[in-house]
Amino acid sequence: MPEPAADQVLIRVKATAVNYADSIMVAGHYQTKPALPFSPGLETAGIVAACGAAVTGFKPGDRVMAILDHGGLAEFAVASAAETYLIPDGMSFAEAGAFTIAYISSHVAIRWQGRLTGQETLLVLGAAGGVGLTAVEIGKAMGARVIAAASSPEKLAVAVAHGADATVNYSTEPLAERVMALTGGKGADVCFDPVGGALFDGALSSLGWGGRILLIGFVAGVPQIPANRLLVKHRAALGSSLRYFRWQQPEKLRASAQELLRWYGEGRLKPCITHRLPLDRSVEAMRLLTERRASGKVVVELEPG
Ligand SMILES: NC(=O)c1ccc[n+]([C@@H]2O[C@H](COP(=O)([O-])OP(=O)(O)OC[C@H]3O[C@@H](n4cnc5c(N)ncnc54)[C@H](OP(=O)(O)O)[C@@H]3O)[C@@H](O)[C@H]2O)c1
Repeated sequence: MPEPAADQVLIRVKATAVNYADSIMVAGHYQTKPALPFSPGLETAGIVAACGAAVTGFKPGDRVMAILDHGGLAEFAVASAAETYLIPDGMSFAEAGAFTIAYISSHVAIRWQGRLTGQETLLVLGAAGGVGLTAVEIGKAMGARVIAAASSPEKLAVAVAHGADATVNYSTEPLAERVMALTGGKGADVCFDPVGGALFDGALSSLGWGGRILLIGFVAGVPQIPANRLLVKHRAALGSSLRYFRWQQPEKLRASAQELLRWYGEGRLKPCITHRLPLDRSVEAMRLLTERRASGKVVVELEPG
């Protein structure tokens, strides 16, 4: 049984979404390497079982969701009270367990690094994936035009169902040419890129004057950035990492969470859960991501509901 520190809450876990980063962490390749043995799981939702001595905002019995260092794929998890949020009425534990990492990561990248405006075009790669699909919804909630890029018609259909205005199938179409055609030759203003690898070059070419590419993740490999391609069109490449942002800028983290919860209450965000598995199938849940078979979020449920 984990013990909550003074500023932590102990959560009886109901649902925890898996993230691609869980697979990197269990492989020992993540930026932080927890001491063995550990349970993976970077977020969770459940019921507060106990509070540390300094916690004032929560009490046992509260329905909460939280960002975790790890440990969500377990019956009990501890979370910092500052990164724990009450679950809004109407949100299920499964939705809540899939909410914090994907939505808040995408929001901090697009809002604070990308500075997307409602007059701009957002290009999202891996647009049916965990963070990608939330980026589509966030771009729409900010009033922007959203171009979703993914590897199959089925995944693009999911992105369209979540608000994408136009699509690119990068398995069959040249990314930059298609984005230029969709934007009348102007290019995208912001590109949200959780994929990297071979797609990165086309993503950079898809940016117009003053375009910003958001480096979110590298599931297809870490790309190199040719500096001359930034200079000529006044482009910028910007990193964004929720893990480090939450430590550096906790006030902006809170602002992101508040805006997301407001949008959820207004019905503008629709968490997409495509697979639900029990705790003892957590490895299979992660494999759905690493084998590129999932869209939206894959959730491990301890008690459905
Ligand atoms: N910076 C941050 O704050 C932050 C926060 C959360 C996640 N991330 C990172 O973002 C990336 C995506 O995480 P996620 O949890 O959203 O993963 P996910 O749900 O598995 O989505 C990844 C998407 O990438 C695409 N993809 C392209 N090549 C792939 C490959 N070789 N293997 C797997 N997928 C591939 C897939 O879409 P197609 O098949 O359509 O190409 C898939 O939908 C990870 O690198 C993760 O660490 C970063």
